[in-house]
Amino acid sequence: MDIEKTGFLNWKLADAIAKKYGTPCYVYDESSLERQAKAALSFPNAFGLTVRYAMKAASNARILKLFDKLGLHIDASSGYEVKRAMLAGIAPQKISLSSQQLPDDLGKLVKLGIHYNACSLLQLEEYGKIAPNTEVGVRINPGLGSGGTNRTNVGGPASSFGIWFEYIPQIKEVAKKYGLKIIRIHTHIGSGSDPKIWQKVAAMSLDTVSQFPDANTLDMGGGFKVGRMSYEKSTDLKKIGAPVARLVKDFAKKTGRKIHFEIEPGTFLLANCACVLSSVKDICNTGKKGYSFIKTDSGMTDILRPSIYGAQHPISILKKKSTRMRENYIVVGHCCESGDILTPAPADPEALLPRKLEKADIGDYCVIGGAGAYCSAMSTSNYNSYPASPEVLLKKSGVISLIRKRQTLEQILENEM
Ligand SMILES: Cc1ncc(COP(=O)(O)O)c(C=O)c1O
Repeated sequence: MDIEKTGFLNWKLADAIAKKYGTPCYVYDESSLERQAKAALSFPNAFGLTVRYAMKAASNARILKLFDKLGLHIDASSGYEVKRAMLAGIAPQKISLSSQQLPDDLGKLVKLGIHYNACSLLQLEEYGKIAPNTEVGVRINPGLGSGGTNRTNVGGPASSFGIWFEYIPQIKEVAKKYGLKIIRIHTHIGSGSDPKIWQKVAAMSLDTVSQFPDANTLDMGGGFKVGRMSYEKSTDLKKIGAPVARLVKDFAKKTGRKIHFEIEPGTFLLANCACVLSSVKDICNTGKKGYSFIKTDSGMTDILRPSIYGAQHPISILKKKSTRMRENYIVVGHCCESGDILTPAPADPEALLPRKLEKADIGDYCVIGGAGAYCSAMSTSNYNSYPASPEVLLKKSGVISLIRKRQTLEQILENEM
């Protein structure tokens, strides 16, 4: 296999961005974001669809606003994310919260009009005390999950997310105690899920819906796998959604209940819509039997997925003049941390897997693709005191717009006493 392609950046564009904003820098592509949003909005459905952007994937206000304008709603994972979305101008009525930790100010958020999915029996009880005689959703662990790696599987007995499916009688008890109407069933089972398992869970989820007579909405979360590398498969939303829409129709025929469908993609909307633009800072090797290493000015401070999941991201070397020469490299980040590796073996963050790249020289650009989802929002920013990198949006017009400035050292120190 020849070298992987990283997408929309060429040397000239990379050089223009680097000269203006420096490296490392996240670069988002507006037309790719729009394309993905439109594809998500055409997810097959029987009786209506709400697409919620899982904002934890990348939480910059400009991205939230862009998706809001295109008609997407928001899935928030913490009270802070709810407030961040509202500060970006998103109407609370368009925000749904499913979180591991109960926010201290849930009552205030609920009063503003957000939708809430209780993710544990304790959360349901607390919600009942705060807002008795109201409507609420519950997140269920359906007993089966699927993720790209075990760490992104959030269904089944090894996952603490949601209320275990066998505790439906307890959910009903709490709901009765506080006069709550369970109107939404939520069953996100993981990121990078196997489409067959996702479809199986859809059928199981409808079975759960049938046990809650007031439920009018089924939210199946996100999890649609996106191939970042050319050999990885992406989920075809039309293919995965059509049989589920049929199940929802059949359910309506049997029960007379027309269930509204919700999905909450993060990865699907963002993954291949951004890259990290970094620079080659150093090159070294460990002898004839060792490895050749490229040291970049990026790494786990910008993109943590390879270090924690063994996730594969396409990497390319951009040179002013291509030499067409190839070499095998291990690409590493700038942290004083042996785990700061951008080319681990698939799903094995501890193993090195040399990558064939264009022969690199110091000063070349090193572009890490597939960096839209769970990168700027989920990195070890400030480790080794490196500042959080800037984010730019490459607009459809070709204009490069700065959407987050580079953090300063003073900002890193700001809260120290
Ligand atoms: C509740 C919930 N919804 C949606 C998502 C988005 O998942 P993905 O990025 O795989 O689409 C997640 C991710 O962890 C989640 O926890």
